[in-house]
Amino acid sequence: MSFSHKLSPGMAAAVMAAAIFAAATTAQTPRDAQRESSVSMAPAAQSFPAPVNLKVLPKDFTGRQVHDLMEQWSSELGVRCSACHVQNSAGVSSGGAAQARFADDEKPMKQVARQMCTMTEQINADYIAKVEGSGMPVTCGTCHRGSIHPQAFAVPSGVMRAAEQK
Ligand code: HEC
Ligand code: HEC
Repeated sequence: MSFSHKLSPGMAAAVMAAAIFAAATTAQTPRDAQRESSVSMAPAAQSFPAPVNLKVLPKDFTGRQVHDLMEQWSSELGVRCSACHVQNSAGVSSGGAAQARFADDEKPMKQVARQMCTMTEQINADYIAKVEGSGMPVTCGTCHRGSIHPQAFAVPSGVMRAAEQK
């Protein structure tokens, strides 16, 4: 994807935001295919209820869109859903799966994730979208690289000296 300099910053920002959120819905993985097939087998268990407590994501996001984005975030951060969402184990028979209460805001990590989401959108809209010809929006994975604690970048030995010699 490329940006024309004819796009107003506002338009470019809108395109960029759409790109970030769309990434989750367009990527078809084997897991998606697997889920599609289990949807037809067990529609009740696999349905994605409409979200009720969105504060930073677009309010018109469908349950399916939220779910796909959440799977992407989890992969980019290398965590499970339970890193940010509380599990309700009360009333669950032993061996039964705990029910996640996704709309609850109990976990501080969920709040950090909201701030990170807003930060990422701002980086893209206010800075990256203004880079001529930029087609690479920043995502959670740009920094996190599969880890909840992004690793500090260490310059490989030799690279620093090579740069000095130029
Ligand atoms: C890094 C933290 C994080 C992880 C991991 C995460 N979520 Fe979320 N989730 C959030 C945040 C933040 C919101 C609220 C977004 C907002 O306020 O717009 C949210 C919202 C949701 C919602 C909408 C709830 C509602 O009704 O408002 C669902 C459903 C959900 N997540 C499911 C999942 C699933 C399923 C997984 C695992 C595949 C997951 N989440 C992993 C942070 C996370
Ligand atoms: C510009 C780089 C950058 C981007 C983009 C970014 N993060 Fe982060 N994030 C960080 C850094 C740095 C930390 C602090 C890590 C630490 O203290 O170990 C952090 C911390 C977090 C934490 C708290 C971890 C903890 O243990 O308290 C969460 C949750 C998180 N990020 C979620 C996200 C999500 C979700 C996205 C995408 C919507 C995102 N981040 C995008 C750099 C980034």
